[in-house]
Amino acid sequence: MRKKIVAGNWKMNMDYEEGLSLFSEVVNMVHDEVTGKQHVVVCSPFIHLHSLAQLAKGNARVSVGAQNAHQAESGAFTGEISAKMIRSTGAEYVILGHSERRQYFGETNELLAKKVDTALQNSLNPIFCIGETLHEREANRHFTIIETQLAEGLFHLDAEHFGQIVIAYEPVWAIGTGVTATSAQAQEIHIFIRKQIAGQYGQEVADNTTILYGGSCNPKNAGDLFAQADIDGGLIGGASLKSRDFVDIVKTFN
Ligand code: 13P
Repeated sequence: MRKKIVAGNWKMNMDYEEGLSLFSEVVNMVHDEVTGKQHVVVCSPFIHLHSLAQLAKGNARVSVGAQNAHQAESGAFTGEISAKMIRSTGAEYVILGHSERRQYFGETNELLAKKVDTALQNSLNPIFCIGETLHEREANRHFTIIETQLAEGLFHLDAEHFGQIVIAYEPVWAIGTGVTATSAQAQEIHIFIRKQIAGQYGQEVADNTTILYGGSCNPKNAGDLFAQADIDGGLIGGASLKSRDFVDIVKTFN
């Protein structure tokens, strides 16, 4: 059975102290209120990683992740952070290919394929984001876009390495806009993603892959979305900055 995961993406929010108290609240609430087998991943800015990983040490329900990593192992890349450095903090996940990285930092599928390799070599589990823009959906190109993002970003991996990947479908038009994909729209794409994986790696690998939905997910709409057969959890932006909202979304799987 594939893992159910609710991941928070804090993006560029929370100073050091704010991040620590938010995370402590989340850990305590998860401890007190979560009864299911779902896993929680908090993807914070780099500055928090080590402290959060210390707080999550030995906690079977909660892990910590970063939001980006450089494709090179190490070297003269002033201001960048490597996968090895991230892993050394105790973080276990890294978001790669978020649409904000693709849009504002010019990250291409080709570059992301390298980032995926480096992350895996350093024992980080990538949460690999894919999704179409509004323009692409209106032009009825969403299936092609997603197919290409998967093929160019991930399908060079062998089945064993692919097994380390979590996929997040995040339609760009739903991110931070308050417009959520309907659960039927999301499910349609999740089925499509699983089919692509089955075509590449076989049905068993496809059935074991966790596919998250992201984009204006909140405690009100999470129930409907997560009830879909192929939606295995969420990647939560804005609502992950409020412990109550975030843990309420996590509790959808109780
Ligand atoms: P929002 O939940 O704020 O729409 O952000 C989604 C997202 O980009 C998570 O990575």
